[in-house]
Order: sequence, then structure tokens, then C-alpha cells
Amino acid sequence: MELQRFAIAAVCAVVAVVTWLGWSVLNWVWLRPKKLERCLRKQGLNGNPYRLLFGDLKDSSNITKQAESSPITLSQDILPRAVPPIHNCVVTYGKNSFMWLGPSPRVNIMDPGLVKEILSKNFEFKKLKFNPLAQFLATGLAFYEDERWTKHRKIITPAFRMEKLKHMLPAFDTSCSELINKWENMVSTQGFCELDVWPFLQTLSSDLISRTAFGSNYEEGRQIFQLQTEQAKHTIQTVASVYIPGWRFMPTKRNNRMKEIEKEVRASLKAMIDKRLKAMKAGEANEDLLGILLDSNLREIQDIGKNSKKVGMMSTDEVIEECKLFYFAGQETTAVLLLWTMVLLSKHPYWQQRAREEVLQVFGNNNPNFEGLNHLKIVTMILNEVLRLYPPAVMLTRTRSLHRNRYVALHIHEAAPRDNPKHSQETRKPAVMAFGFHKSHNRR
Ligand code: HEM
Repeated sequence: MELQRFAIAAVCAVVAVVTWLGWSVLNWVWLRPKKLERCLRKQGLNGNPYRLLFGDLKDSSNITKQAESSPITLSQDILPRAVPPIHNCVVTYGKNSFMWLGPSPRVNIMDPGLVKEILSKNFEFKKLKFNPLAQFLATGLAFYEDERWTKHRKIITPAFRMEKLKHMLPAFDTSCSELINKWENMVSTQGFCELDVWPFLQTLSSDLISRTAFGSNYEEGRQIFQLQTEQAKHTIQTVASVYIPGWRFMPTKRNNRMKEIEKEVRASLKAMIDKRLKAMKAGEANEDLLGILLDSNLREIQDIGKNSKKVGMMSTDEVIEECKLFYFAGQETTAVLLLWTMVLLSKHPYWQQRAREEVLQVFGNNNPNFEGLNHLKIVTMILNEVLRLYPPAVMLTRTRSLHRNRYVALHIHEAAPRDNPKHSQETRKPAVMAFGFHKSHNRR
């Protein structure tokens, strides 16, 4: 009798667990997305109907392959190439549209007024939680919220003050001179040569960050960069597929490699930080990003006193994350800005000439100095215009609760499609109107 009761209880427990699991899966792959879809349509947003588990992912992958199969055009409408699925969604369904990344909807936000409102209400519109495997690439300030963000921002800000950036100029100068010398040697034999500048610019920006972030540990910084570049490739593949909870624990080839890289990067950064802390205790000063960050962190500990130590300071792990973020946030963005500046200056020799004249007028044949950089008005306008036309961070993401804690993600676009008559003038209006490459100056 006892045994029978136990068997019944066990069967009931199993049935309850199986039912709960079944319900959770059904809710995740179907009920929740369909409820969100109804809410979005009620609000006047359009998009493809939700398709089981994959949503628009299969279409997105095909559209991306197709877009990447032909050479890039220089028509200045970069969205069809940079984010083909999003461009396709906006062209098909207009500005007020949404798309499906697996069972999660993403709403496209392109109206400058709405963008401003969303970014200013950071207590309401939160940062997106990515696939946990993506956190191996970087977390840090850019991914934190509320008190944690405030604490890190306070400690990191001194590293980006003007007087600190001034000390980094010689490092910029060294990296840039090395690159120019290389290029001059390459053209010296025939007077010209054809080369793909992209890998050079990627190396330049990673060298700049290694030198300015890790100064004397520049070589170690370079190795970390190579590992982080590989990590970025794995991360892109990971986030492009449906996120299955728990998948990160599976010993797949990619998961294992990502964990290996994470371990190696962390160990290198930790060794560097420990060495630096020892040197600081011995009275050595360091004006690179890591030195300033550690110094600012130590000051914070002194300011708040021993009792509240844990609240105000950053742990070694947190410092490691911020160092990883410098690479992630600064490397590709800087290289992309430089690349498009070169492309546009090649397309517009008039502005190339004006920029060259200005640089020669301010610096002559001397090395660039900090005060002189402030006098480069034309160069600054050109860089702003390039950032407007080809923003290195093409979109930002935020989330918002739409219906009883069911969250939708928002794609906030920095670049809007330019040639589509469906889009209003307002959407195409630049955030910063510098001067139009594509207007009157084109003819000169
Ligand atoms: C052309 C170059 C760059 C562009 C276009 C760019 C763009 C951006 C954008 C759009 C954000 C906001 C992200 C969000 O709120 O979701 C951001 C944040 C950030 N970027 Fe950059 N970035 C550039 C260079 C750099 C460099 C060189 C570094 C550091 C070495 C850097 C470090 C950061 C950090 C730490 C944050 C987080 C700031 C915070 O949340 O308070 N960025 N960047």
C-alpha cells in the first residue's frame, strides 16, 4: 500500500514536471510570441507573421548571403549592405516595423525624436541582455545599468579627460608614423601600388588601443587583441542563431574554444593588472588607460574608506571586463571610421585638397600636437560627415516591457535608408548637418 502511494506520488510529480516543461516550451516558442505580435499590430506596427521558433532568422540569413555575394557599391546607402535583413524589413513594412529574431520581436526605431526620448529614459528602456556566451567577448560599462553603471562610469571617466588624452598623443603619433612609413616603402619602387587598406587600418586601431591602454605592456596587449578578434567571430555566429537556454554548457567545438579564449585573455589581463598594481605600490606612475583606471579605482577606495569598500571600488574581474571593453568598443569602430574617411576623400578630391591644405597650414612639417588638433575645422567636419553617412555603430539596442513583463527589443538606427521615397524627409535628416559631400561640392 505504502509502495503504491509512493508510485502514484512519483507519477504525479513526473507528470507535473513534464506538463510544466511542455507549457514553458509551448509558451516560449508559440504563445508568448503570438501575444506580443498581437500587441505590436494593435499599436500600428507591421512585420512578418511569427513563424515557429525561427521567426525571420532563415530569411535573414538568405538575405544576408545574397547581399554579401556582390561587391559593395559606393551609393552611400549603406543599410542594404551593413544590415540587409533590417533594411529589407523597413523597405517592406515601413518605418513602423518589427522583425523576428527567433521567438523574440525587434522593433525598428528610426524617428530621431523617438530615438532621443528612448536614450534619455534609461530607467525605462534597458540595455538588451545578450546570449550569455556573448559576454565572453565583453561586458563592462556599455552593458551595465543603474548603480553599477554609475560606479564604473565614475571610475573610468578620468581616463578620458582631455589632460589625460594629451599624454596619449605620442603613442598615436608612433602608430600612425609606422603605418605611413610602411605605405611609403610600398610605393617607393614604382611610385604607386595597389593595396587593401582595411587590414592595415585594423592593425593600426588595435595598436593604438594596445599602446594607449597598456603602454609598456604593448606586446601583451597585442596578443589579447588577436584572441579577442577570434572571440568576436565566434560571438557573431553565436548571436545569429536561436538562443537555446543551457546551450552554452554543451561541449561543442565553438563553445569550448570560446571558453578557452576567455580563460587565456582573463589570465593575461590579470597578470598585467597584478604587475601594474605592484609597480604602483612601488611609486611608479603610468599614464596609459589601465594605469589611470587603476589609479582612479585606488582613489575611490581611499575616498570612501574601508567600511564601504566593496560598494565603491571595482574588483580585479571588473577591471578585466573594462579592459576587454576598450578593445571591443574602440578597435573596429575606429578602423571603420578611418576606412570610410579614406573612401570618401578619394571620391571627393576637392575636400581631400582642403583637408591637406588645412593640416599643412596648422602643422607645417612638424609632428601633430594637441593644440593644433583643435584648429582642424575642416578635418573635424569631414569626420563628422563620415560618421553621419557611415556610422561605425549602425544601431543600438534597448528593451522595453510591452505586456506583463514580456519584453520587446528595440533596434535604434543611427543610419537610415537614404534613397527610398517611402521614408519621410524627417527620417533622412542628418543628426548633425555638417556639409553635403553629395551636394554642390561634388561638381567641383
Ligand atoms: C569612431 C569611434 C567610435 C564610435 C562610433 C563609438 C560609438 C559608441 C556608441 C554608439 C556607444 C553607445 C552604446 C550604447 O549606449 O548602447 C558607445 C559607448 C562606449 N564606447 Fe564607443 N565608439 C567609438 C570609439 C570608442 C573608443 C576608442 C573607446 C575606448 C577605447 C570607446 C569606448 C566606449 C565605452 C567604454 C562605451 C560605454 C559608455 C557608457 O555606457 O557610458 N568607444 N560608443
